[in-house]
Amino acid sequence: MAIPIPLALLALSAIFGLLPPHTTADHVLYTGEVLMAGQNLTNGQYRLAMQSNCDLVLYEGETSTWRANTAGKGNDCYLGLKHNGELVVRRNVHYTLWSSSNKSKKGKYALVLDHHGKLGIYGQRRWASNNQKETGILDRSVVSTEYVLYSSERLAPPKKLKYNNYELGFKKCNLVISDSRTGKLLWQTSTEANTCYAQLEADGELTVKHHNNRLWSSNKKSEDGAYIAVLRFDGRLNVFGPLIWSLDRTDDSPLPEASFPPTGDFTASDE
Ligand SMILES: *[C@@H]1O[C@H](CO)[C@@H](O)[C@H](O)[C@H]1NC(C)=O
Ligand SMILES: *[C@@H]1O[C@H](CO)[C@@H](O)[C@H](O)[C@H]1NC(C)=O
Repeated sequence: MAIPIPLALLALSAIFGLLPPHTTADHVLYTGEVLMAGQNLTNGQYRLAMQSNCDLVLYEGETSTWRANTAGKGNDCYLGLKHNGELVVRRNVHYTLWSSSNKSKKGKYALVLDHHGKLGIYGQRRWASNNQKETGILDRSVVSTEYVLYSSERLAPPKKLKYNNYELGFKKCNLVISDSRTGKLLWQTSTEANTCYAQLEADGELTVKHHNNRLWSSNKKSEDGAYIAVLRFDGRLNVFGPLIWSLDRTDDSPLPEASFPPTGDFTASDE
């Protein structure tokens, strides 16, 4: 579906090297990406909508469960995730109408709408699989498979993470990323045993285990918290965390709603 791209945003992407805005039914937004008016993040019955009236609204089915209360405050508003992990609704390229407020170190973050309708900002990125990034990225608007592993979960056969043609799963005990179009293995842990599973530990370390024995590890740890491993649209597996901000639809505590001085720090594009 074609969405008219505001000129101001085109200028913004030219100046700051933003990733191309994506039209999406996807459920992860990465640092440097934007949701423009009319675009959504969706996961099952949950939807985060950047509406053309400038409001940012979270829906469960047809019912709105949270909003940023920015309706009518501008035209061509957009949602962006900054390099300090702050989520912002802006108008006129730089003018911030709403912010998630929680800031952290400079890095790469990910905003996730999970299958329980919770919004979370995870970052900075801690680890990435070393396979080559795929170019010629396919349409991101049709992905409804699960491609995020949360730190409370295990990935055990036959479960797989899938994003378009990319799959993360076990071949026996070997954890592999493969391309289902070509059958090619893009990355693997080369672990050997009978029954294995992958686990994202509370400190962000990704491990492959046979019973309780570690056979492989990403060797990247950080403070305890909630982490995610995401199979990205470029065929790489990334670990982000810990969680620095979250919004649970069952939590009706007020959120900051304010105007801020103009700032603009969507700097480098991804990588
Ligand atoms: C966003 O969701 C609404 C409601 O389902 C839909 O009408 C609209 O087309 C979606 N936007 C895009 C760009 O898919
Ligand atoms: C912001 O960060 C603080 C400190 O880590 C945390 O206690 C708080 O819950 C966060 N706010 C939200 C809305 O997630």
